[in-house]
Formats: sequence, C-alpha cells, structure tokens
Amino acid sequence: MNKKWNTNNIASQEGKIFLVTGANSGLGLGTTKVLATKGAEVVMAARNLEKGKKALQEVKQAAPQAKVILMQLDLADLDSIEAFATEFKRNYQQLDVLINNAGVMMPNERLTTKQGFEIQFGTNHIGHFVLTHQLLPILENTPNSRIVTLSSLVAKMSKADIYWDDLQWEKSYDKMGAYAQSKLSNLMFALELDQRLRAANSPVTSLAAHPGYTATNLQQHMGLTGKVMNFLLAQNLEMGILPTLRAATDPEAKGGEYYGPLKWREMRGYPALNEPPALALDQKSRTKLWTISEKYAKASFAV
Ligand SMILES: NC(=O)c1ccc[n+]([C@@H]2O[C@H](COP(=O)([O-])OP(=O)(O)OC[C@H]3O[C@@H](n4cnc5c(N)ncnc54)[C@H](OP(=O)(O)O)[C@@H]3O)[C@@H](O)[C@H]2O)c1
Repeated sequence: MNKKWNTNNIASQEGKIFLVTGANSGLGLGTTKVLATKGAEVVMAARNLEKGKKALQEVKQAAPQAKVILMQLDLADLDSIEAFATEFKRNYQQLDVLINNAGVMMPNERLTTKQGFEIQFGTNHIGHFVLTHQLLPILENTPNSRIVTLSSLVAKMSKADIYWDDLQWEKSYDKMGAYAQSKLSNLMFALELDQRLRAANSPVTSLAAHPGYTATNLQQHMGLTGKVMNFLLAQNLEMGILPTLRAATDPEAKGGEYYGPLKWREMRGYPALNEPPALALDQKSRTKLWTISEKYAKASFAV
C-alpha cells in the first residue's frame, strides 16, 4: 500500500459527480477544492447559503474551470434533507460519490435538531443516515459509486460508546460523550451499510474516513483549550483531507475500509488503513443502532 498517498495520486475525476456535505468550511471546503481541480463536478451542500457563496468563490479561485454548484442543506432538519434530495434527484441522474462530511462538535449546552434529536447525534448521524437513504437509488444507478462517511479518532476514546439508556442526552448532557457517540455512530453506519450493500449484491460501496486532528472551525466550542490544542497538535488541512480523498477516489480502496492517519495516536500522517474500534465491529450493536436510526429517521433502507 502507498504509504505517502497524496493528491498527486488522484487521477482525473472528469465526468464524475461528487456531493460534499458541509462543503463551505474546513475539510469539506478543502476536499471540494481538490476534487474541482481534478475535473470533478462538485455539488457543495451548505446549510448557510451566504457562507456557501463565499466558499464557492474560493473554489472558483482555486479552480477557475471548476464545475461547482451550491445547494442548501440543513442536516439538523429532516424536512430540509427531504427537500434537498428531491431537488438533487430532479437535477441529476448520476451521483458517483456522496461524502457525508458535515459535523458539529461539543456545543456547551444540549441543543436539539428541528425534530428534537440531540444536535450531534441528530446532525452527524441521523442527518447523514436520512440523506444516504434518500440518495441511494441514484447512487445505485451510477456505476462504481461510493459513499464516504467521516468518523473521528474520538470513536476510539474511552467515552466512545452508544449510550442506549439515554441516546439523546436528556437525563444529563456530556458534550464529549455526545460527540464521541455521534462519530462512533457514523463509523458503525458506514460499516453496516457496506455489509448490507454486499449482502444485497448492490454495486455501491460504503467506506469511512477520519482526518486525524486538523485545525478547522470544528473546535469553535472548545475555547482556549481548542486554540492551544490546534496550535500544538493539529496537522494542516492539506493533510487532513487526504483520508476522505483516498476513500473517495483511490481505485484500490474497497467497501468497508476505514482510512485515516496512524501517527501520533492517529492524529497525524498520510492516510492508511485504520482498524475500527471493537464496538464498531460488534454486530449486535450495529444492528440495534440501525433499527433505532430507521425508526428515528422514519426511513427503511431497501438493503
Ligand atoms: N477537524 C478535525 O480534527 C476532525 C477530527 C475528526 C473528525 N472530524 C470530522 O470532519 C468533519 C468536518 O469537520 P471540519 O473539521 O471541517 O469542521 P468545520 O470547519 O466546522 O466544518 C463543519 C461543516 O459542517 C457544517 N454543518 C454543521 N452543522 C450542519 C447542519 N446542521 N447542516 C449542514 N451542515 C452542517 C458546517 O456548516 P457551518 O459553517 O454553517 O457551521 C461546516 O460546513 C466533521 O464530520 C467532523 O466531525 C474533524
């Protein structure tokens, strides 16, 4: 396996259509710029169109010939996801890669989505679960299509668990626990989805990626601690986007794989195959989370 896989390893992506959630900031924006430079058509999904327009200009500066368009998507609102997916399917007959990238981390108070889910579980996991469900038919109609879902190194931390007794953090709110649960859920979803797609003989594959530790707007709720940690520990955005890009474009990457850096306790380095934590491989927990997610999402996958 290529130990220093980087953007030079990405072939032309002309003719392919990518959809990136949270494309206006941090890793999503960086990922979009590289894909656009490589000739891909990229749909940038952003919840705030003003921020989205600024990001779109940045992409056009980096890649003047870029085929990029902006669409509004709030993953904390199931109605917004439905409206987005309806419009997407009206405009496109093809989707080569769905990148489930958007995320919110550790707000100091317990916040909720429009439908009342705890904001991190609701946005990071349920929002992407519903979006993927809505877009699966168009992915299935596109040869060699992929779904890449962003997890995190926190999915291996001691607080990473599925808190079955209080999934929505209604009894007591622990911001780190809630974020870790949402990112472990992302990983369990990506792996379970691939397993189900294989069992259904689907042509679509599902992979997971994590960016190590990368300084972005994600740390905005961490105050001074976040600033110090960003300064001391973070790798730069150019490195942080590589695991997503590898999972999304490397012809050798396979469904069910998990890409991320391995150095400095998985905070830094080039993208390599990562070992998922035991819980993400636990079939009973994965099935239970899938069933609960379908109930919350009011969405039943055909796979
Ligand atoms: N940075 C890291 O070290 C790190 C480590 C592990 C995993 N990750 C994961 O990487 C992904 C990208 O994070 P980032 O570091 O690039 O952070 P970021 O710069 O804060 O970007 C997050 C993106 O998600 C969007 N978002 C938040 N809530 C949303 C919602 N309700 N609907 C639609 N979009 C929403 C944000 O939109 P707004 O700009 O409007 O807020 C922003 O575009 C996340 O899934 C995160 O968990 C990051």
